[in-house]
Amino acid sequence: MTSHVCPSLFSGAERVLRGRVLSFHADPRLAGAEHSYRYIEDGLVVIAQGRIVAVGEAHALLRHVGAHVPVDDHTGRLILPGFVDTHIHYPQTRVIASYGEQLLEWLQKYTFVEEQKLRQQGHAEHVARFFFDELLRQGTTTAVVYCSVHPQSVDAFFAESERRGTRMIAGKVMMDRNAPEGLLDTAESGYSESRALLQAWHGRGRQLYAITPRFAITSTPEQLEAAGTLAREFPDAYVQTHLGENRAEIALVKQLFPQAASYADVYARHGLLGPKSILGHCIYLEDSELELLAESESIAAFCPTSNLFLGSGLFDMRRLQQHAKPVRVGIATDVGGGTSYSMLQTANEAYKVLQLQGQQWPALQAFYMMTHGNAAVLGLQDRIGSLAQGFEADIAVLDPRATPAMAHRMECIEDNLAEELFLLMTLGDDRCVAETYVAGRPSKPRKPEAVLRKAASQLLADMP
Ligand code: GUN
Ligand code: ZN
Repeated sequence: MTSHVCPSLFSGAERVLRGRVLSFHADPRLAGAEHSYRYIEDGLVVIAQGRIVAVGEAHALLRHVGAHVPVDDHTGRLILPGFVDTHIHYPQTRVIASYGEQLLEWLQKYTFVEEQKLRQQGHAEHVARFFFDELLRQGTTTAVVYCSVHPQSVDAFFAESERRGTRMIAGKVMMDRNAPEGLLDTAESGYSESRALLQAWHGRGRQLYAITPRFAITSTPEQLEAAGTLAREFPDAYVQTHLGENRAEIALVKQLFPQAASYADVYARHGLLGPKSILGHCIYLEDSELELLAESESIAAFCPTSNLFLGSGLFDMRRLQQHAKPVRVGIATDVGGGTSYSMLQTANEAYKVLQLQGQQWPALQAFYMMTHGNAAVLGLQDRIGSLAQGFEADIAVLDPRATPAMAHRMECIEDNLAEELFLLMTLGDDRCVAETYVAGRPSKPRKPEAVLRKAASQLLADMP
């Protein structure tokens, strides 16, 4: 692939990354590990205009890159596609780590209280800035995001995403019952506000819209119908909601929708299942629900840290993936029910959830899912999630020796990629992320601006 490179190909090169390049192009479980990825020990990623123009051996490519092009030397580090998070709530950055409740009480006691604050002018912008800083610190470059019920929370989110240059999928939460007054829309306003936001943001630059009825409990049948209408009107938009997370939740859904055959059937009846529908959790599914998800090609988002933290239950990956027609599965943080923004830590907890059920989850499988796998379930596998020519240059650079404990452990890992990746997902977090590139630009925030300001003012105050 790299032996007949035309020098002019790189004439517009703006940046080059050098390091250990790892990129998946297939599911190791299906293709076999050795046919699922490409690994280059001394590799080069050449970037122009936000895209990858070449990936290959450094010795073969370097001579085609002009001397003026900056080379970011990541020798010894792993250069991977940026992580993709398939389910997260940006208004919950101050809900994370709230003590002692399970889903329905946790929503009332903590989440709905905090989400109401996004109504205040300026607050959504502030939270959005924090949220993007945090994601990029963790090497996450694309996420599927719930905003709040307030349309301005969506504008604030996408405006910040546009400023950062990230590819994001997000939408206004629709909820017209069973929540505080300050968080309610109506079937009509939920529809018209979502429609206007979708038209404003879906496909604008890198931004994509997700129609977002929160879950069956907080939407009337009329609102779910309106959401389904919107999904039919805009078939290339996403749909996101929650399904089968908690036993009390499921019992309440059955009370609220006595005519539905199951929780998943509530969504099916309103046209909310399909290949672009992302359903958070999917822990408790009846066989008929598995059938509905499989047939509709809907996506189940596995949220391990959240499922453990809220005491929800254990996601049965094997059951979903080994169904006669497999259910498509992605992995996600679900902050603030989830306890970490880090996809590495999310993989760590996923591994343990699967261990408890006697299920294997090798590191290659985990890194596949966090990158190409999550991109593929979102239908974005031709744009993000791999490092190859033509892909958008969203990249995470990981240092497997970032902490003393990791460096110490690495001393007895020699030339074994799977072991190294397993170490990264077990002990790794934002400290391992040496850099995050968004559309080819270094974008890992070094220090929160507020810390820098404080440090600067302290310096001034200390001056004689
Ligand atoms: N179900 C409905 N809303 C939520 C939420 O905000 N977090 C989680 N984990 N589950 C939900
Ligand atoms: Zn959620």
